[in-house]
Amino acid sequence: MKNAVLGIGASPRKNGNSDMLLKKILEGARSENVKTEMVQLRDYQFTACTGCEMCRKKPECDGLKDGMQLIYPKILEARGLVLVSPTHNYNVTAWMKAFIDRLYCFYTFTDDRPRNYSSSLAGQGRKVILTAVGEQPSYEEAIGLSIDAMRLPFEALGYDVIADLPVLGIFDKGKINEQADIMEKAGSLGRELALSVIKNNK
Ligand SMILES: Cc1cc2nc3c(=O)[nH]c(=O)nc-3n(C[C@H](O)[C@H](O)[C@H](O)COP(=O)(O)O)c2cc1C
Repeated sequence: MKNAVLGIGASPRKNGNSDMLLKKILEGARSENVKTEMVQLRDYQFTACTGCEMCRKKPECDGLKDGMQLIYPKILEARGLVLVSPTHNYNVTAWMKAFIDRLYCFYTFTDDRPRNYSSSLAGQGRKVILTAVGEQPSYEEAIGLSIDAMRLPFEALGYDVIADLPVLGIFDKGKINEQADIMEKAGSLGRELALSVIKNNK
């Protein structure tokens, strides 16, 4: 189903701020009659990419038969994606980083050096929203590299980043729910993503 939005959550903390933000964005997408699904990476058993390069021989991750194999079909199906990560040490969480590295199997490389590459996810009108949550009051400390750490690889994979939402100054579990402006923005970004996916698939 092309008109679908997949949400990827990368917090180890169940019912924390990232979970609530992701739920709100997906709720917004559903209000535009788009099918949504939420994947919490903490619920899947998967390892970081081992660089085995077996995906050079077959266009899939053939080297690691783990929980990512359940997530790949969902990525292929949904043309809209939402990534939410808390900031851990100025960057995305280890779950998000491992998830991104495991998307290496969607690339094809040439044999020259440095290798040129293309992505099998490109050219399909795929859209993504990126969000990160941190406790510190300044962007540098609360978000740091998190948004860029998602933006650069997803642009390389052929996604159009339609928005990012950095959330600063939130530490306590679920505290984000009290930030009406942020939650409202999250809902409206979800609607925007859904409309953009629908428009693209017309
Ligand atoms: C290991 C670890 C590292 C963290 N590093 C940062 C950081 O670099 N900057 C920051 O502002 N907050 C940092 N935090 C705080 C979390 O980003 C913050 O509490 C966030 O609201 C957690 O989101 P969650 O409820 O979705 O897990 C860190 C928390 C943990 C557990």
